[in-house]
Amino acid sequence: MASQLNWEKRDRADELLGSEVQQRLARWNHARLEPRLPDPARESQLKSESPMLELEARFVESLRAEVEETAATVPADPRAFIVWFEALEEHGPGQHDPLFEWLASSATLDDMRWYLSQEAAGEAGFDDLTAYTQVKLPQRIKLELARNYWDEMGRGNAKGMHGPMLARLVDALGLEPSIEATVPESLALANSMTAMATRRDYAWHALGALGVIELTAPGRSSAVAAGLKRLGVAGKDRLYFDLHATLDVKHSAAWNEEAIGPAVAEDPRRARAIAEGALMRLKCGARCFERYRRELW
Ligand SMILES: [Fe+2]
Ligand SMILES: [Fe+2]
Repeated sequence: MASQLNWEKRDRADELLGSEVQQRLARWNHARLEPRLPDPARESQLKSESPMLELEARFVESLRAEVEETAATVPADPRAFIVWFEALEEHGPGQHDPLFEWLASSATLDDMRWYLSQEAAGEAGFDDLTAYTQVKLPQRIKLELARNYWDEMGRGNAKGMHGPMLARLVDALGLEPSIEATVPESLALANSMTAMATRRDYAWHALGALGVIELTAPGRSSAVAAGLKRLGVAGKDRLYFDLHATLDVKHSAAWNEEAIGPAVAEDPRRARAIAEGALMRLKCGARCFERYRRELW
């Protein structure tokens, strides 16, 4: 009986991570976050909203179930927690995946274009995720997210905005990212980030997931930047990856000191939520890297 139950559980998780569900969630996120005018058909829209919120919750809970046990053992003391959190750079799921060394040293331009299309379609926008996450957070944490957001906004200079910087690379390489051509692993990564940032019951999860992006992005970014340089992509077009190879080291240190530490000091129960969010993000990333290797190698 027990094994039958486990089977059913595993089956559902597979389904939730598959193309059908992930494309549905991706299309829904795209439509619902788009600024729009009041819709005369809003009643039917509200009706369709509730099953999608339910599907999203089932998806996020399935990700959470994978990491709950590990997250239950994290220290609740802020200093000790930051030490645990920072060690994720070395030992976290998917960290130092061989894909990145290969992208830096051996991938062809076509391989790199495919990889970047997948990543660009799955990009949920760190700036908007941060903006959603900071709503009603305590002052000190809000200020750190604001400083980070301001950097995302190029400190008020359009040329320095991070999102458009990535879009410039996508344009320069002639990529056409689309939900339909994106593997479900990559959609799941973006859908999980959007879910955590927009649902207030996962606000602390989002803080952990965004923090672990800052912690782990420099390693991946420098590998991709090296690969782009080797393949002859112009410096101005690969700026997004050059920048994140170094800037996120600072972002990560500040996020841990000014957001994660104070959040845990104020309520030690948040350590577990932050850890879950970080591990959920890393596991989604690990699944992407594995899938990319299967497609590219
Ligand atoms: Fe950024
Ligand atoms: Fe950053």
